[in-house]
Amino acid sequence: MVGRAQGLYALASQEEIGLLMVMNFAFIEGKYNGSSISVLGRNTVFSKAREMPVIGGSGLFRFARGYVQASTHKFDLKTGDAIVQYNVYVLHY
Ligand SMILES: *[C@@H]1O[C@H](CO)[C@@H](O)[C@H](O)[C@H]1NC(C)=O
Repeated sequence: MVGRAQGLYALASQEEIGLLMVMNFAFIEGKYNGSSISVLGRNTVFSKAREMPVIGGSGLFRFARGYVQASTHKFDLKTGDAIVQYNVYVLHY
């Protein structure tokens, strides 16, 4: 494990399952230990690929800008647990 995804989501759509995602990727390993990336955006969880903006970061990710592409790898209807792959494209100083 290199870090943790921390945040919350809210239901924010009338006609499909669309979430408002507010999430930090907090790193705990290597040169990015203590740094984080912040993502805020709309997530239509049943779409194949979803894109959300990277709106900032801390530590080595100060002034970060970019986007993530998320795709669901596995979804357990019984527990509600999902394994989601995030590809993160980020520019920072
Ligand atoms: C990450 O940083 C914390 C706080 O400085 C430190 O306690 C921890 O040992 C560091 N972890 C690694 C893997 O270097």
